[in-house]
Amino acid sequence: MSDWFKDAIIYEAHVRAFFDSNNDGIGDFPGLTSKLDYLQALGINALWLLPFYPSPLRDDGYDIADYEGVHPSYGTIQDFERFMDEAHRRGIRVITELVINHTSDQHPWFQAARRAPAGSPEREFYVWSETKQKYQGVRIIFTDSETSNWSWDDAAGAYYWHRFFHHQPDLNFDNPNVLDAVLKTMNVWVDRGVDGLRLDAVPYLIEREGTICENLEETHAILRKIRRAMDERYNDRMLIAEANQWPADVRPYFGDGDECHMAFHFPLMPRIFMALRQEDRHPITEILRQTPEIPENSQWGLFLRNHDELTLEMVTDEERDYMYQAYAADPRMRINVGIRRRLAPLVENSRRQIELLHSLLFSFPGTPVIYYGDEIGMGDNIYLGDRNGVRTPMQWTSDRNAGFSRTDPAQLYAPPIMDPVYGYQAINVEAQERSPFSLLNWMKRLIALRKQLKVFGRGTLEFVPSANRKILTYVRAFEGETVLCVANLSRTVQPVELDLSRFKGMTPVEMLGLTEFPRIGEVPYFLTLPGYNFYWFRLQAQPSSITGQRLSDAGTSSDDIRASLPAFFMGVAWDTLLDGNVRTLIERESLVPFLQRQRWFGGKARPIRAAHFLDWGPVRRGSDPLFATIVEVDYQDGGRERYFLPLGAAKGAHVDATMASAPQLALARLTGARKGVVIDATVDERYGAALLESFDKLESIPLKRGVLRPRRTDPYEQLRGDGPLAMRRIGAEQSNSSLAFGDRLIVKLFRRIEDGPNPDVEIGEHLTAHTAFRRSPQVAAWLEYESPGAIIDLLGPEPLLDLAAMLTPQAIREVSGAYIDSAQMLGRRTAELHIALASDTRTQAFAPEPFARDDYARLLADAIGQARRASELLGGRAATLPQDVASSSRSAVEQAEQALHARHMAHAAKPRISSVSIRGRRSGRDGQGRRS
Ligand code: GLC
Ligand code: CA
Repeated sequence: MSDWFKDAIIYEAHVRAFFDSNNDGIGDFPGLTSKLDYLQALGINALWLLPFYPSPLRDDGYDIADYEGVHPSYGTIQDFERFMDEAHRRGIRVITELVINHTSDQHPWFQAARRAPAGSPEREFYVWSETKQKYQGVRIIFTDSETSNWSWDDAAGAYYWHRFFHHQPDLNFDNPNVLDAVLKTMNVWVDRGVDGLRLDAVPYLIEREGTICENLEETHAILRKIRRAMDERYNDRMLIAEANQWPADVRPYFGDGDECHMAFHFPLMPRIFMALRQEDRHPITEILRQTPEIPENSQWGLFLRNHDELTLEMVTDEERDYMYQAYAADPRMRINVGIRRRLAPLVENSRRQIELLHSLLFSFPGTPVIYYGDEIGMGDNIYLGDRNGVRTPMQWTSDRNAGFSRTDPAQLYAPPIMDPVYGYQAINVEAQERSPFSLLNWMKRLIALRKQLKVFGRGTLEFVPSANRKILTYVRAFEGETVLCVANLSRTVQPVELDLSRFKGMTPVEMLGLTEFPRIGEVPYFLTLPGYNFYWFRLQAQPSSITGQRLSDAGTSSDDIRASLPAFFMGVAWDTLLDGNVRTLIERESLVPFLQRQRWFGGKARPIRAAHFLDWGPVRRGSDPLFATIVEVDYQDGGRERYFLPLGAAKGAHVDATMASAPQLALARLTGARKGVVIDATVDERYGAALLESFDKLESIPLKRGVLRPRRTDPYEQLRGDGPLAMRRIGAEQSNSSLAFGDRLIVKLFRRIEDGPNPDVEIGEHLTAHTAFRRSPQVAAWLEYESPGAIIDLLGPEPLLDLAAMLTPQAIREVSGAYIDSAQMLGRRTAELHIALASDTRTQAFAPEPFARDDYARLLADAIGQARRASELLGGRAATLPQDVASSSRSAVEQAEQALHARHMAHAAKPRISSVSIRGRRSGRDGQGRRS
């Protein structure tokens, strides 16, 4: 049996209220169909429609006059069928209403019954009596409009039984013909493709003298027959019971898994609101504790609000008084035994409360139901009669009629909400789609999150006790997946200590932000939650790789890498490697894992959506070609980065050696006519030689889209010298990679690239060409990537520094003093550098600017902040350091902090400073070469 409904997210909508396609003021099936894209984008996967059958609409369609048709205002059967196809095409299942307790008094069955003689088969379709004395003591449900469950019919000369409005006579389920007729109706709709049926008002099917005429065993017998008939035809359809009863009385509606698949959890809903207003978890924990186990193949249906009043039938008298007082101060807000308000007005439009409530709805055991409009925070209109105030037109735009219909406002089936807080000018889909932080977009994120894990729809529930009753904590677990939910029901920030010792060693990862929290240890787990806030933590045995800082060295062994490399088929010629479909295959299968293995790749902490080659071209052709490529990475957060990636397709001893020692540099295997590897080409000597040649000859390297252009400074020839230079890759991998050419030049490869000049190249070139400063490496040349619209500096060969010799290695060995010496040296050099930079007043980019008092203050504040962070770090590590080291280092940092503070005060008192600032402070750019 298919149990899709366990993982469903149901959206409840009214055809009439959703979208009007023919501008007659009434929503219809073509209109609903045209909005399916919206529902798909929202992420829901099941749609529950209120009754749309022919009806006098005295109970908004729950008074059905023809079970098998479509109300002409809403369209035709063909419109319905097209809607079904379109919904299914989008992966949205459809749930409709099977209202069998009663019909409209306009239904032909009733019209025939009242005219047929007493005792005839026609008459027996309904429940009749000569007197109103039968079934005394059965409660009245619509207390505001009805005074009796019996009404007189002149034509029949008898009373007929009705549990709801007097124009809704109850069908007589003691008559087997009634069940046959109902089953026929059911089959018509499931054969039309309907995936689920909501059994409206199902506890009241059978009446017996001396009972309350609710939940009778005979009623359950009828339900078992309905289920059996359904199962005989289909194994993927679902029945939901609308049984507004106490948990123990709802439980039988699941039977032994042979009645309804799903039943709404009515008593939970008001208690969620109660807990919120009382800032106490007790009402929720209490009702969930009293909720019985249900059969394996069944599911609870959960909701915050629906098309009816927030019913208070399933609370105690005191609780009801409390709820009325808390949520329905104005008597107009009350109807029958409940409150006729939408979600947002119930919580006075508090966004935080709306989010909190949804976090509960989406993480409690069951399938959540969202009522249309609540995903954008729609309001209600308590001046409309009955429950119509929560059934107003969906608010699509700020245009006339909320974008629901283009008819004259007077012709609308109901006025849209127009008040300043909830009116369609303020609350509408169009506006919320545009704003990333809108409720609508938040809902989309939450829905997507919930759909990621089956644990929410299927897992067990266990409360985690804590002293603070404002905090509700529970664990959901399913097939090795564990989610810890913590909710703050109060308006103020709250601390909580949780005993999570049985999860010791696990790492909670907050699901909305993918943030790793501290590992769970022996001591109680301490959390603080802002008012009305909640956390969903996925408990992970190992820290997730998503936020891991160093994926390349974390757990990915060389063998794993070698085993995971995909192999692609190529012919003999490899220089077309990137021109065909192999490029696409590499992008799809191996580029992202490759990037994540690279030390220089800066995006390891961000979930990646995709990566692809933005540009590529051969640097050297032949049997083992070399390529220059530019890779673009798209992140899930919408960000985007570009990286320069030199690649080679090669085979031979040097490739084998690299595969053995540094397999992380391999991108893919090649197979087919020849076998080889696609690999980061900085390990290939020929790559350096090719670059050097391009500088020597000033020859550009054309790529598919753009071109790589060599640029040289005046001293290039002198710096480069004559003859060949041996190439070698320098040192450990860093944010950038470097290659040395003999002892004369270094090529620094900027991996992450951005538009415009690279500050490293720009400043180096400036110092080389326009100043006499010789303490920084001179820039001999650089390579510029020019594509339509962008020039980027990729790399710059600079003469090798002999600065190392000046760093007094002897002194370094004598611990103290050495740092002072080098700090002084660095300071002096930095100062010289700044003087050199400031000496040029002609080049605009380097023209000095005044260094204001504020700038100085900021610099000091920065330094103080750094000192403070250092002392905090020391404090945190104190336990792991030898006693004397800990205390002496702490006092050193404290002294530094004090000295800086003193400076700060002195500066504040004495405002005059004469300084200038040069390039760097002002540009505020993220220098690509920064960390190399
Ligand atoms: C159900 C419906 C409600 C309707 C009643 C009578 O309770 O949810 O809207 O008025 O049945 O049909
Ligand atoms: Ca219409």
